[in-house]
Amino acid sequence: MKARSRFEMNHLWKIIFPLSLLLYLSGNVKSQVNPSVCRSPLGMSGRQILDEDISASSQWSESTAAKYGRLDSEEGDGAWCPESTIEPENMNEFLQIDLRSLHFITLVGTQGRHAGGIGNEFAQTYKIKYSRDGSRWISWRNRQGKEVIEGNRNAYDIVLKDLEPPIIARFVRFMPVIDHSMNVCMRVELYGCEWLDGLVSYNAPLGQEMILHDQEVYLNDSVYDGAILYSMTEGLGQLTDGMCGLDDFTLSHVYNVWPGYDYVGWTNESFPNGYVEIMFEFDRTRNFTTMKVHCNNMFSQRVKVFQKVVCYFRSDLDWEPTPVSFSPVMDDVNPSARFVTVSLQNHMASAIKCQYYFSDMWMMFSEITFQSDTAMYNTTLAPRKTGAPPNTQPGDNPVHKVDDSNTRILIGCLVAIIFILVAIIVIILWRQVWQKVLEKVSRRMLDDELTASLSIQSEAFSCNNNLTSSAPSEQESSSTYERIFPLGADYQEPSRLVRKLPDVSQVSEDTASKSPQSSTQEGVPHYAEADIVNLQGVTGGNTYAVPAVTMDLLSGKDIPIEEFPRKLLTFKEKLGEGQFGEVHLCEAEDMEEFMDKDFSFDVSENQTVLVAVKMLRADANKNARNDFLKEIKIMSRLKDPNIIRLLGVCMSSDPLCMITEYMENGDLNQFLSRHEPEGMIALLSNAPTVSYSNLQHMATQIASGMKYLSSLNFVHRDLATRNCLVGKNYTIKIADFGMSRNLYSGDYYRIQGRAVLPIRWMSWESILLGKFTTASDVWAFGVTLWETLTFCKEQPYSQLSDEQVIENTGEFFRDQRRQIYLPQPAMCPDPIYKLMLSCWHRNAKERPSFQEIHRVLLENTP
Ligand SMILES: *[C@@H]1O[C@H](CO)[C@@H](O)[C@H](O)[C@H]1NC(C)=O
Ligand SMILES: *[C@@H]1O[C@H](CO)[C@@H](O)[C@H](O)[C@H]1NC(C)=O
Ligand SMILES: *[C@@H]1O[C@H](CO)[C@@H](O)[C@H](O)[C@H]1NC(C)=O
Ligand SMILES: *[C@@H]1O[C@H](CO)[C@@H](O)[C@H](O)[C@H]1NC(C)=O
Repeated sequence: MKARSRFEMNHLWKIIFPLSLLLYLSGNVKSQVNPSVCRSPLGMSGRQILDEDISASSQWSESTAAKYGRLDSEEGDGAWCPESTIEPENMNEFLQIDLRSLHFITLVGTQGRHAGGIGNEFAQTYKIKYSRDGSRWISWRNRQGKEVIEGNRNAYDIVLKDLEPPIIARFVRFMPVIDHSMNVCMRVELYGCEWLDGLVSYNAPLGQEMILHDQEVYLNDSVYDGAILYSMTEGLGQLTDGMCGLDDFTLSHVYNVWPGYDYVGWTNESFPNGYVEIMFEFDRTRNFTTMKVHCNNMFSQRVKVFQKVVCYFRSDLDWEPTPVSFSPVMDDVNPSARFVTVSLQNHMASAIKCQYYFSDMWMMFSEITFQSDTAMYNTTLAPRKTGAPPNTQPGDNPVHKVDDSNTRILIGCLVAIIFILVAIIVIILWRQVWQKVLEKVSRRMLDDELTASLSIQSEAFSCNNNLTSSAPSEQESSSTYERIFPLGADYQEPSRLVRKLPDVSQVSEDTASKSPQSSTQEGVPHYAEADIVNLQGVTGGNTYAVPAVTMDLLSGKDIPIEEFPRKLLTFKEKLGEGQFGEVHLCEAEDMEEFMDKDFSFDVSENQTVLVAVKMLRADANKNARNDFLKEIKIMSRLKDPNIIRLLGVCMSSDPLCMITEYMENGDLNQFLSRHEPEGMIALLSNAPTVSYSNLQHMATQIASGMKYLSSLNFVHRDLATRNCLVGKNYTIKIADFGMSRNLYSGDYYRIQGRAVLPIRWMSWESILLGKFTTASDVWAFGVTLWETLTFCKEQPYSQLSDEQVIENTGEFFRDQRRQIYLPQPAMCPDPIYKLMLSCWHRNAKERPSFQEIHRVLLENTP
């Protein structure tokens, strides 16, 4: 069976499915819930659930309120996010849905916050609580007793989970569970159908234990959700989980459980009256037509259908004096489990009490259903659309519940069908063997689910069972669903492209607190950068990030720049150092010979020029080498008067190096720190000065260089005065030294051994969401402009600690006017400060482009 090809399986499936449908329609299946059909979305994505019925323990902001927690919806800020960071000791955040009436819920779907690429919060695990009356809340557990459900692994995929056992409830709460601090957002959907039985609880004596051939058979109600003391009260459980037991009560479809799992059973030894009384309570007064009891009848083990049942009805407060009683025909021939239908003769009631009389030593029930009014369950498969769960995937089987009135006919049919099936299977196997011999083609089994489906499917004919989860583990069934939702064009797995980025969830975390996950999750992308490939510079700095598309252009092997003879370089000083290399300031001779015609140095003939030489250590690993080559390819494409040029490379031998321009006045930060504004102080201290018009000239050049970068869709990610070099006559060229220079280590914020980030220059969305775009470069430009106009005398937000800067970022996100902006520098004219403020607009789209910035700076030239 394992080696069965998909083709053959599909073939078999095509034959089985119509047959099963035939059988399925012949049974009276509309009268009880069918978990494999009851899987329609209940209206989070489809909006049948109203905003007012969705609530939450808290919200991070108006735009992440509970009503935005709808699966597949991108409204507001894209999801529900609770206010506080969810910590292990604080797991009480929840998103609550009121379905307005009782529903049978078989499946849940969750999704994180993607928000068109800027969101990256999701719940890796969560729990579910539910309530039928809004006051008693019950924690959902799976059949193995586990409460925690595996949730999402990224912000965009929908993950569906079967609820085994299903939930019968009006209110459902999703409670994110995290084992380390992180921000969580959720979008959810519930799948199921209305609970037409209307049953709210049953009270019954505890199920008992049977010793059968020295084997213990536990006939307790293993999924009962009420109180269990001397009896079971106020709950629902196995008798309403939509799952019928097998003919042999010691067996079960459920994986890894004890014998007797599917049944609740009692022995006459403990019931001197000769009956077991079960009381059923309903949501309202109903007009009852029938009750169906699924009983075991394995008479060889002294288990039999009840001999007689007597039911009493209560409509208002009083029990009606006249009960209904019914005695099924005893069957000592056929040992199969069956539904026994009891007519309730249109009694009106909100509670029913039934006494089931023993006909042998044991009585075992696996389901009890009630039919009232004229309501019928839908049996048509829900239409398959996005957001709707698959109903016909292999592993789901229509329920085959056999009415005992039709039993004989059906048994005949069954036997015939089983014969046909066996014949078909034999033929198919035979053909397959021959095909294999002939073709010698090894067709690998594609999925195990198909095999599983076959075995369940064939068993489904011999018993009334509809269990879907005989797949060995939850994991497998969920992967099926993940496959069923193809990523849309907008969701091209950004995570594949992004590595080495810091985990955004760690940003807000106290850096001192150790997170057990952070070390194991190294390399797991949390940052949602939809279209950016990050290149980690060899010196530990990040180089320009480039759009993913241009990476194709870079994939060629050729180095598009000339080899430079190493011997012409003379070491002067070390500019910086990183994990994989160093940056040296060198003098180079005869540089002109190596340059394009369109490039001219601002030095006279035969003079040496200053160059920065970035070197890759000989022992650097392969990744670092590849990144180095990419960096060279990117740098070689940048040709602008305000961007540092790549002059040459040394690739013929180790250490690999790239040679870029350097400017005689060093970087802008140091340059301005050495200078003073024109005025009294400068006069008195005799310090060198820079006029305002020269400051503005420099800022305009930075804007111009950035305009060029942005026109190529290059994102700098670390624009700051420390990364701008100053030449003669206040010429400016933008470079990127990354964070390798000790001089500026204070400008970067280290996140738990991960990358360091220039948080004081970063936009809120870069810090919180890991989103780096031209608009975030614009933000950084605003800060750079501020630095320039304050002569770099202090760090931006110098009065705030790093943690406070990150808090301030949260205020920018919330936008409740509590965020702190950098103040207007003394010499900054109003229009320029206005320009600065516009760079820090919350909405990235409303920030000016570099073209506009460049234009405004030119227009305001003094
Ligand atoms: C059955 O389907 C119809 C239409 O699809 C829907 O209006 C109705 O609520 C469904 N009933 C149940 C019990 O799910
Ligand atoms: C039912 O019996 C099994 C086997 O002893 C036990 O593990 C389980 O906890 C019981 N369940 C309940 C709800 O009592
Ligand atoms: C209950 O339903 C049946 C069939 O629809 C109807 O004949 C009868 O009148 C109803 N009983 C009450 C009390 O409404
Ligand atoms: C239980 O049922 C068996 C078989 O019908 C019978 O022999 C036995 O006496 C019954 N025990 C009690 C206590 O009623």
